[in-house]
Amino acid sequence: MRDEELSATLLAWYGRHGRDLPWRVGPAARLAGARPDPYAVWLSEVMLQQTTVAAVRDYFRRFTALWPDVHALAAAEDGAVMGEWAGLGYYARARNLLKCARVVSAELGGRFPDTVEGLRALPGIGPYTAAAVAAIAFDRPATVVDGNVERVMSRLFLVETPLPQAKGPLTELAGRLTPPVHPGDHAQAVMDLGATICTPRNPACGICPWRDPCAARAAGVQADLPRKAPK
Ligand code: ADE
Repeated sequence: MRDEELSATLLAWYGRHGRDLPWRVGPAARLAGARPDPYAVWLSEVMLQQTTVAAVRDYFRRFTALWPDVHALAAAEDGAVMGEWAGLGYYARARNLLKCARVVSAELGGRFPDTVEGLRALPGIGPYTAAAVAAIAFDRPATVVDGNVERVMSRLFLVETPLPQAKGPLTELAGRLTPPVHPGDHAQAVMDLGATICTPRNPACGICPWRDPCAARAAGVQADLPRKAPK
């Protein structure tokens, strides 16, 4: 399958089976022209680093109820934010979250930059978060690569090189697949596929939109990928 066909197949699957998450805009609202709120996308992506969607849901709801926009979060007491973060772990994320909110609120009029470069300049925003916010909130054709994406790419294209050496090639493959239209949906679709179907163990190949083009499945080695270099 050509790259365009692969991404079209995936986007069609996402339209029907994408997860309904509190920071996403559902299909109906989307048709009415709604766009995701960059603040919500940024907050969710910071929370989702090293943390599962299941664990993040309730934290995300509490944060947005208490602090519905970036100005509200910027004005919050440090202790209140750290208290609400308790349990999510990696507390540097929460401190950077506040720093970033204060820069966006005080220096950028509350508007998040809409490019990868602009986002990278903010406190606590690394390559992953910058790409995720640029793609999901602003539909920039940025390529988002996390562990899910690496696993899906290693299987679809049968990359036998072990991680971490395979990171470069897997990132390039993920970039080739990123479509110019709806790159944000594409990014979320690959992550959903990795989380719900192309799982580390017992992948549900029978219901995967990429079961036919998947090279690892054709070779019968999908459950063994990605390979990892011995520590
Ligand atoms: N993991 C990190 N970001 C995600 C997102 N936007 N959707 C699904 N899983 C994710």
